Amino acid sequence: MPEDKKVDKLRRKFLVSTFSLPIFSLILSKKDANHKRSFGDDFPYKARHFKNFEKIRVFSDNLIRNHLKIYQDSVASLNTLIKEINSFANSGKFSLQYYELKRRFSYDFNSVKLHEIYFESVTKDNVYLKEDWEIFKRIKRDFGSFENWKSNFTDLGMIRGVGWVALCYDKLSDKLFNIWIDENFSGILTGCKILLVMDVFEHSYQIDYGIRKKDYISTFIKVIDWRIVEKRLSE
Ligand SMILES: [Fe+2]
Repeated sequence: MPEDKKVDKLRRKFLVSTFSLPIFSLILSKKDANHKRSFGDDFPYKARHFKNFEKIRVFSDNLIRNHLKIYQDSVASLNTLIKEINSFANSGKFSLQYYELKRRFSYDFNSVKLHEIYFESVTKDNVYLKEDWEIFKRIKRDFGSFENWKSNFTDLGMIRGVGWVALCYDKLSDKLFNIWIDENFSGILTGCKILLVMDVFEHSYQIDYGIRKKDYISTFIKVIDWRIVEKRLSE
């Protein structure tokens, strides 16, 4: 090898060994920093206000107040959980307690999110589903008729247990589904957008309806804000 090429090779080797380690370390430290800041800057969560739900006339003030309190407690619980999880992440010491907190995370996170979708889904205004709306056309296509959809949605609500009934949209298959979500997580369809949810935990109806769950479901369906459902479908 000519002498000048030997010098070039040695120079390249020197540059690689001198600068690659710090760059690699920088990437690692950035990754580590991101790991420590595992939940972004938006936390702690703040409980939102839902004027439309507060003013809904079909539920008593007592039920509305209690339900909003349960949601606010979920937000507080989620924030506590995140704080605990972050303290483990920052210490770098993981334990069974950490894994249990992580398992709990989806329960509280989904409780907050599902309640928010639920509170947004109702209105005191009389909103009727119009035949030329996209959501109506898709319900008709996938369930045969609006009555079929309503009947299926009601039947799912009567499942024994606590959880949610949701109308979901899968973009990939371009299909709507009514689903049952057990408690706050089991049954959620991966990749599907939730267009509408109905809370069927006892706290959502028993103050007003006792064990008459079907009456609650019928009332809920009457106050759905289909404008919101249509908007969610288009987003
Ligand atoms: Fe609830």
